[in-house]
Amino acid sequence: MRTIDDLGDELGGLRGRRVLLRSDLNVPLEDGRVADDGRIRASLPTIERLSDAGAITVVTAHLGRPKGKPVPQYSLRPVYQRLAELLPGRDVRFADDTVGDSARATLRVLPEGGVAVLENLRFDPREASKDDAEREVFAAELAALADAFVSDGFGVLHRKQASVYDVAERLPHAAGYLVLREVEAFRKVLQDPQRPYVVVLGGSKVSDKLGVIDNLLGKVDRLLVGGGMCFTFLAAQGHEVGGSLLEEDQVDAVRGFLDQAADSGVEIVLPVDVVVAAEVDEAATTSVVPATAIPADEKGLDIGPQTAQLFRKKLADARTVVWNGPMGVFELTPFAEGTRQVAQAVAEVDGTTVVGGGDSAAAIRQLGLDESAFTHISTGGGASLELLEGKTLPGLAVLEN
Ligand code: 3PG
Repeated sequence: MRTIDDLGDELGGLRGRRVLLRSDLNVPLEDGRVADDGRIRASLPTIERLSDAGAITVVTAHLGRPKGKPVPQYSLRPVYQRLAELLPGRDVRFADDTVGDSARATLRVLPEGGVAVLENLRFDPREASKDDAEREVFAAELAALADAFVSDGFGVLHRKQASVYDVAERLPHAAGYLVLREVEAFRKVLQDPQRPYVVVLGGSKVSDKLGVIDNLLGKVDRLLVGGGMCFTFLAAQGHEVGGSLLEEDQVDAVRGFLDQAADSGVEIVLPVDVVVAAEVDEAATTSVVPATAIPADEKGLDIGPQTAQLFRKKLADARTVVWNGPMGVFELTPFAEGTRQVAQAVAEVDGTTVVGGGDSAAAIRQLGLDESAFTHISTGGGASLELLEGKTLPGLAVLEN
């Protein structure tokens, strides 16, 4: 994949060049302000590099799923405001459309090193259209704004959308620093892991993780399973799971994984105890029960303390760890401890530790854990899952051309 340096060489320098940048700035907002700026910060090295080189950077991004029409709550303006705060001393401006008068007028007046943030790409129905021709027209209009394209929105590389895929076919292009960093982290754990290799999976639905288990089971030494998805594993072993989350239609698939692991000598480690409550509530009355004895009228909402210790032990000698998905409903205090314990155990591993994006990355930040203790915390949710499933991401494949 070409880098920004390669692109600079190709164009005879970036000074005064307009560079269309696709970033993933899809961040949570609260009361009209950015609540977690992790993805914005992760986008800074590329923006700063382009700006330092004297390029005029045209940042494109989406927020939420406004379904092809302008929806005020999905405006990128609050994201622009946070980005501008994080880029002090630079000329950062907002255009309230994508390929219209505001975008063109903003670009006309921006000086070298300036940064424009265009309004939410998904306000235009052509961005995410399934019709190739519609997307291509939008991509051509985006491409007309710039001399080159840099793809740095790792979290959206699994989407074959105009600003991610089609535009790269129309302009000299390169991968940004975030994309390069993410791709290298996943390459290492998928193709070159040091052993013992331990994968920790959590999150609510096992159906979201079948592809990951299928791809990783043949590569890892141990698979630790927590979160809502563990109850389908416990059910597959013949245990009652009370009111816990259970995907009945996945029990056979999970049984297949348990058999495959037993045949190939991969250790699948399931909870031995769970924190249960009748309600998913901040004020819930909780108790800890054996994983094989969940009362019929209670739900398992976190792994228990013995399981946390067991998982810690299984992680202690690991040289490579991939962790994807929280161990319980970590957003609520009574069910956060299992995720905290596992996050700490992963952080203590002496080796490569990669945290899949989405909820696990949010958990690390929300629980106030030290992000620098992990080798890599992905900014991608769906994109990191698809890489772990062994899929080719369209937004990456197009950069190889
Ligand atoms: C994400 O939040 O995972 C990315 O920004 C992609 O968003 P999407 O699932 O709405 O395409």
